[in-house]
Amino acid sequence: TFMVLLVIVGAYFFGCFNGAVIVSKYILRDDVRNHGSGNAGLTNFYRTFGGVLTFVVIGTDVLKAVLAVLLGSFVLSGIDPELMVLGKLLAGMCCILGHMFPCMFRFKGGKGILSGGTIAIMLDWRVAIIVWGAFIILVLLTRFVSLGSIAAGVGFPLTTGYFIGGMDHIILATIIGFLLVWGHRANIKRLLAGEENKFSFRRKKAG
Ligand code: G3P
Repeated sequence: TFMVLLVIVGAYFFGCFNGAVIVSKYILRDDVRNHGSGNAGLTNFYRTFGGVLTFVVIGTDVLKAVLAVLLGSFVLSGIDPELMVLGKLLAGMCCILGHMFPCMFRFKGGKGILSGGTIAIMLDWRVAIIVWGAFIILVLLTRFVSLGSIAAGVGFPLTTGYFIGGMDHIILATIIGFLLVWGHRANIKRLLAGEENKFSFRRKKAG
C-alpha cells in the first residue's frame, strides 16, 4: 500500500543524512571519504578528524535512525498494532540502505553500524544489550572496530530471531545483518591479511 511505500522511501531518505559526509563536506570542507579507510562513518571520521564534531556525527546518525524507526513503527502500527515490530525493522533496513548508499552523495556512504546500533536499541532491549555487548567487548579486546561491527551484524538476526521471532521479522533482520557484514568486506580482507586499522583514542593529525 501507499503507507508502506511512504515508510520505505521516508526511512531511506532519513538514512541518506550521513553524519560523517555532511559534517566533513559542509563544515570541514574536506570529505572524509578521501581519508583513512575511505568510509563515511563515525569510526573513520574520528580516525581522520576527531574533535567535538565527532559528536555532531553521532547526533546526526542516531537522530536519523530514531526518526526512521519512529516513522516505520507509527505508520505500520497505525495499519495494525501487530505490525509495529515489522515497521521498525522495515524502516531500519531502509535507513541503513540510505546510510550506506545515500543518493545525494553519489551512493557512497558508510557501513550502517551506528544506525544499526540505534535501531537495535529502538527494537528490543535484549537484542540491543547483546549486540552492543558483543561489539564493545570485541572492540575493547581486539581494538578492531570492524570486528565488533561484524559480530554485531551477525548477532542482530540471531538475537531478533531468538527474542522476537516471526518469519517476516527474521527475514528483515537477516537482510540488515547481511548488509552490515557485506559493508565490511574490505575490512574482512584486511583482518585476514593482518592489515586492519586498530582503534585508538590517541590523537592523529587531520588531513
Ligand atoms: O562502523 C564502521 C567500522 O566497523 C569500520 O570502519 O573506517 O575502519 O572501515 P572503518
